[in-house]
Amino acid sequence: MRRRSPATPSSDHMERGVNKPQHSRLCVLGLLCAFFWGVLFYFHFVVIGGRSFQVTSISSDFSSHDPLPVIHPNPLVDININHVENNDDVINNKPQIRDLNVAKNPRNPQSVNEQKSDHFVTDQLVKPQTEPVIEQKSDNLVPVNEQKSDNLVNPESEPVIEQKSDNGDNGDNGDNRKELPFMKALRTAENKSDPCGGRYVYVHDLPSRFNEDMLKQCRSLSKWTNMCKFTTNAGLGPPLENTEGVFSDNGWYATNQFAVDVIFSNRMKQYECLTKDSSLAAAIFVPFYAGFDIARYLWGYNISMRDAASLDLVDWLQKRPEWGIMGGKDHFLVAGRITWDFRRLSEEETDWGNKLLFLPAAKNMSMLVVESSPWNANDFAIPYPTYFHPSKDSEVFAWQDRMMRLDRKWLFCFAGAPRPDNPKSIRGQIIDQCKNSNAGKLLECDLGESKCHSPSSIMQMFQSSAFCLQPQGDSYTRRSAFDSMLAGCIPVFFHPGSAYTQYTWHLPKNYTKYSVFIPEDDLRKRNISIEERLSQIPPEQVKMMREEVINLIPRLIYADPRSKLDSHKDAFDVSVQAIINKVTRLRKDIIEGRTDDDFIEELSWKYALLDEGEYVGVHEWDPFFSKPKPNVANSDSDSSAAEAAKNSWKNEQRDHSS
Ligand SMILES: *[C@@H]1O[C@H](CO)[C@@H](O)[C@H](O)[C@H]1NC(C)=O
Ligand SMILES: *[C@@H]1O[C@H](CO)[C@@H](O)[C@H](O)[C@H]1NC(C)=O
Ligand SMILES: *[C@@H]1O[C@H](CO)[C@@H](O)[C@H](O)[C@H]1NC(C)=O
Ligand SMILES: *[C@@H]1O[C@H](CO)[C@@H](O)[C@H](O)[C@H]1NC(C)=O
Ligand SMILES: *[C@@H]1O[C@H](CO)[C@@H](O)[C@H](O)[C@H]1NC(C)=O
Repeated sequence: MRRRSPATPSSDHMERGVNKPQHSRLCVLGLLCAFFWGVLFYFHFVVIGGRSFQVTSISSDFSSHDPLPVIHPNPLVDININHVENNDDVINNKPQIRDLNVAKNPRNPQSVNEQKSDHFVTDQLVKPQTEPVIEQKSDNLVPVNEQKSDNLVNPESEPVIEQKSDNGDNGDNGDNRKELPFMKALRTAENKSDPCGGRYVYVHDLPSRFNEDMLKQCRSLSKWTNMCKFTTNAGLGPPLENTEGVFSDNGWYATNQFAVDVIFSNRMKQYECLTKDSSLAAAIFVPFYAGFDIARYLWGYNISMRDAASLDLVDWLQKRPEWGIMGGKDHFLVAGRITWDFRRLSEEETDWGNKLLFLPAAKNMSMLVVESSPWNANDFAIPYPTYFHPSKDSEVFAWQDRMMRLDRKWLFCFAGAPRPDNPKSIRGQIIDQCKNSNAGKLLECDLGESKCHSPSSIMQMFQSSAFCLQPQGDSYTRRSAFDSMLAGCIPVFFHPGSAYTQYTWHLPKNYTKYSVFIPEDDLRKRNISIEERLSQIPPEQVKMMREEVINLIPRLIYADPRSKLDSHKDAFDVSVQAIINKVTRLRKDIIEGRTDDDFIEELSWKYALLDEGEYVGVHEWDPFFSKPKPNVANSDSDSSAAEAAKNSWKNEQRDHSS
């Protein structure tokens, strides 16, 4: 069973250990501790102490790195005997049945792996087979760890109990723990007769200047695009006619790729467990249109204009009693743009974007964006919107059935524009290979009218292809990856930041199940043939991957916000559940005195890939995430994130699918 070429790094070390016998885990425990402390000291003194934001020796400069991805044996793998299979499980199976299960069990472990900051915490909160922890606590306040007689190799058990007594933050010991302001909310999960227990969301009633007013001024929302038509239909945009038979008759819209702000907020109105009582809330939603806000001022406005609404928002939030419950750590908001628009590094007028994500209050909140930063812990990636927004489960099933049966005459295809200004871009080679291969199809995007701007032409090509090439554009991610999966086309990624380290809530961790990874350097330095690489994959494996992609469709799309699917969990549902899991776990950590002092934010992308109980170590993808060096003169080879964002919007007008 060939899955990837030998040159492709193995993902095994991330996921092996699942079946590892226990005694060998005990054996590596000592080694593990030593190595762990080694890594820790290294970071404290060398990386952080050096005040340089480069993770220098872990990840060498991309351009100077050995072209062959090095597979480092990593001893720091799963030591967790209560390993929980990740959300692959949920995804693998027929969506309908599985999704029903998920919907019935709010504590389903499907999102246990998403937590960037909680990796040192062990598994007890998410064991699927056991009673939820909080239920054990209701009768007696004995800490959870003490009840876990089965968890003999849990390295956290000891320290956790010791730390408890000196947890000054809450000043709580023993029975005082009951007084924590979120205890009432946690206890709703114990109420068996409350189907929303543990899942309530409180939505802040923001002044209209933070949301609705922006829709009224839709002309001003983008310099390039008149967003007014795209804010219609609850953010889905104008309906798409099915004249060419590419779409289905219902549920298709010309959705703008930056419309998630409003789609998500409207979708929240359909959430079945909204509460007006914030003391019951598992999470608090802030319906600020952060993406629309910054889009208004990205071009030609001074930084005080760009920052104004963000500062106004955090000022408003911090005056609310809800903020005090957890210092905002239970708050989340959504911006349908890439994170780099909200990460201005300095107060210089020429720097890009606003500084929302660097504000102290925003560091406590979770912001959902369509592309997150690999090096930061307060943003999380959610899917770009596609053109499909079903309002009934039957529409989803019908679409999946059709995508399964299609005849795909092209082996691979690409829709996009070259990046002639970027010498590191592999798009030129990809375009050449598409042009020169009989098995490849190209939809070239250039200035002016082109088929590349037509949803129907794009979707038709994706539906006729087995594989869809998804190289980076100016930033790591593209909407096109989601359009292609919607068409049942297996995505081919060239950088792990284009999907694998981004959409960890929505996509299986084992990326070989649904995609092909060809490292950029295979093209850049070795000029490999994509056709050859892809045609080596056995047909039965292609079929399995395609089925996986098609089974993923429901959780990658946003259902019509004006209705609600009964059995499918869509991208919104998956995201909200992941946020609830994150906040719930943080609350339990506070109760139990666990802290995450050892967390190294620069390695956020790595934590997001870990299984429960794993620790960060050397990773095969380190070379892909050597940090761009802001303010370094010759950083052009390592195009800085801000530059990427700027270029990305330069291309916004001409390359809508990019
Ligand atoms: C449990 O939930 C039910 C249904 O929402 C509610 O009527 C009841 O008051 C709850 N019980 C407690 C103890 O909160
Ligand atoms: C920023 O621009 C706005 C209007 O464009 C102007 O009113 C304001 O004075 C400017 N602020 C600064 C600090 O230049
Ligand atoms: C962020 O959270 C921490 C700890 O919960 C708290 O001490 C701090 O005040 C919060 N920051 C803001 C701006 O509220
Ligand atoms: C990942 O998925 C592939 C394809 O389904 C499978 O062969 C492989 O064993 C999986 N890897 C792990 C570590 O689970
Ligand atoms: C890459 O290979 C193709 C043939 O597969 C060849 O036409 C092309 O010139 C090569 N490009 C470079 C830069 O070597």
